[in-house]
Amino acid sequence: MTKVKVRVPATTANLGPGFDVLGMALNLYNYIEMKEMDSGLEISVEGEGKGILPGDSSSIVYEIAWKVFKLAGYSPRGIKIKLTNNIPIARGLGSSAAALVGGAVAANALSGSRLSLEELINLASEMEGHPDNVVPAAVGGFTLCINTVDEGIIFRKIDPPEVYAVAAVPFFELSTKKARDVLPKMVSIKDAVFNMGRTSMLVYAVQTGELRLLKNVMQDRLHQLYRVSLVPGMENVFEAALEAGALGVFLSGAGPTVIALTQDKSSIGKIKEAMKITFLNHDMDCSLLELEPDAQGAVIMEK
Ligand code: HSE
Repeated sequence: MTKVKVRVPATTANLGPGFDVLGMALNLYNYIEMKEMDSGLEISVEGEGKGILPGDSSSIVYEIAWKVFKLAGYSPRGIKIKLTNNIPIARGLGSSAAALVGGAVAANALSGSRLSLEELINLASEMEGHPDNVVPAAVGGFTLCINTVDEGIIFRKIDPPEVYAVAAVPFFELSTKKARDVLPKMVSIKDAVFNMGRTSMLVYAVQTGELRLLKNVMQDRLHQLYRVSLVPGMENVFEAALEAGALGVFLSGAGPTVIALTQDKSSIGKIKEAMKITFLNHDMDCSLLELEPDAQGAVIMEK
């Protein structure tokens, strides 16, 4: 019987000022295998989330697959899903967006590719609540997205910057809901302008390769300062990474992961050490990942 295997990347959202708008795919991957069976549902999880993520119909991978089958008018008799996860869960690296995009793309391939990529992205964004991780997980690269009344999610992808992304991943989980609950309902015009200017100029920096702008244009006043209370030492880790030579640094998505960007391979060791020591000074241990942007997004590897 038909079997598909999909590879889907980790993602970082916001990139500082681009709250709920900007995202970038990273070369750390989850794999979703989906196979039609004669009857029943079997879900297995390897790697990140093994023993924690549900192996029944409450799995978000199964939930979105089911929605795709329904929209495609396809009725599999039974489904077997194998998840092999490398993206840490609830750390701001897009693990749930990867699960949703991977599940949607796999189910669509299994049912004859009847839905468009736009339809899959809209479906996954609706379940996720915001599109800024979903879009880069689906299409790769550096992405911009908006949610519109008449056309749903409109997204564009530009080539990602040529950088190394050093990720300091604290040893605790932070749900996006909790990280959104600390945000204010209203912000000042001054702070809105602060972010609009930097978001626009960040896109310019990525598009033109003028990456020396990153230090200033990755600053933010809409979410990071409110999240300091949830990520002990965050601001000091930012300073330490910049002092160690990073071009720019930001809270990845809703956190708690902090990502520093550099073009200089020889500075990676120093940046890692600076971030680790600073988190440790705040009684917070972390693991360190050395990543690069992914340009492809979700890819069907076997069918
Ligand atoms: N942009 C979201 C947030 C996270 O910062 O809350 C990713 O969707």
